[in-house]
Amino acid sequence: MTGRAKRNLDLDAAVADVEARYVAANPKSEARFEEACRTMPGANTRTSLYYDPFPVTIARGRGSHLWDLDGNEYVDFLGDYTAGLYGHSNPVIQEAVEAALAGGIGLGAPCDYESQLADLMCARFPSLDMVRFTNSGTEGNLLAIGLARAVTAKTHLLMFEGSYHGGVLGHGGGGSPIDVPYPVVMGVYNDAQGAKALMAEHAADLAAVLVEPLAGTGGSIPGDPEFLAALREGADEHGIVLIFDEVMTSRLSSGGMQKRIGVTPDLTAFGKYLGGGMTFGAFGGRRDMMERFDPRREDALPHAGTFNNNVVTMAAGVAGLTKIFTAEAADALNARGDAFRERLNEIARRHGAPAQAVGMGSMLSIHLKREKVRRPADIKDISPAARKLFQLEMNLGGFFTTRKGFMSISLAVSDQEFDQFADAFDEFLSAYGGVLPD
Ligand SMILES: Cc1ncc(COP(=O)(O)O)c(C=O)c1O
Repeated sequence: MTGRAKRNLDLDAAVADVEARYVAANPKSEARFEEACRTMPGANTRTSLYYDPFPVTIARGRGSHLWDLDGNEYVDFLGDYTAGLYGHSNPVIQEAVEAALAGGIGLGAPCDYESQLADLMCARFPSLDMVRFTNSGTEGNLLAIGLARAVTAKTHLLMFEGSYHGGVLGHGGGGSPIDVPYPVVMGVYNDAQGAKALMAEHAADLAAVLVEPLAGTGGSIPGDPEFLAALREGADEHGIVLIFDEVMTSRLSSGGMQKRIGVTPDLTAFGKYLGGGMTFGAFGGRRDMMERFDPRREDALPHAGTFNNNVVTMAAGVAGLTKIFTAEAADALNARGDAFRERLNEIARRHGAPAQAVGMGSMLSIHLKREKVRRPADIKDISPAARKLFQLEMNLGGFFTTRKGFMSISLAVSDQEFDQFADAFDEFLSAYGGVLPD
């Protein structure tokens, strides 16, 4: 832990100390940040990548490693918020991208790769009879919602507090003026009875229930199987479309969370790694619903998007699913992630520290809190100063994580790197366990 942590600091002094060391270690990133502020609001074009005092600028990545502008090296435990499943510059993905590029880009026509990727996804994910591609997970959700509203001729959506479905679908996080103005009924995540009651009460208006089967941005909190099964039951009972947002969670088994827990939604939205790390989104599900997009129909629903079937994404996606993230590879990675999370929890227990690792398989978050986290609302009171201390201290120790403690494990992370992270976590708790708010 950079040899500087002090047992007797209070939290504010510890944060000031780590921040000073962080600033000293990153002069080029700081200068880059200041310069970029001139033409980009807050030097940023993706809100989640900002943290104070300024984020490091990453110059390059390879495998599980990242290097910043100042030459600091990190083991990447963020994995681009789950999109970086294959690690950086995976040679198989690189080869597929280069082959696709050699055949021309922006072809303005169907390409061979897109139906291959569609076949592969439909074979994997239980809910998928048919699929369509988009450029982001946000778009995947927007189209799934639009389809649900069209087929039900209803308007409202049931969403859950603390959930996140995209840049204009932040209703569950408290909402913002730029959210799509859907009429939303807000439920409590993992409250099966409450959700069923809301579905009954609003049955006449609810077009869809939109849920992340594991609340990723909300703190890597797994949905209880009973909660997700209750949503399925309520949807069937009241003619409501059940949409799983598996933008992050599709990596949690060979067939996503839906396969892992045995609850099949009507529609599913996808994103992140499924395009091999290239810009990606998708939505799909029941044939009778998806067929509404068939352009041969008189009443076909429109679905546009210049880059929906871009060859780079489609080819990288095919290579990823066929040559790297096979069903066996998915199982193995998630088993390693489960073991890693357990190991971190053992360390936290040994220290008697207010800290826990929450998640499933290759997705997890470290929450600096003692009481068990079960719902996104449970992480609201975690001290921002404690989060900052942890993130900056881990950063200085050579581990790339996030301010909220979110992590996703890529296929490139080695067992030795798990050991290194676990040791650093152990040291962090030794040094600071006494100053973390309980
Ligand atoms: C669960 C979930 N849904 C949707 C999205 C939005 O995907 P994208 O950023 O590709 O638009 C995200 C992004 O983090 C997400 O975590």
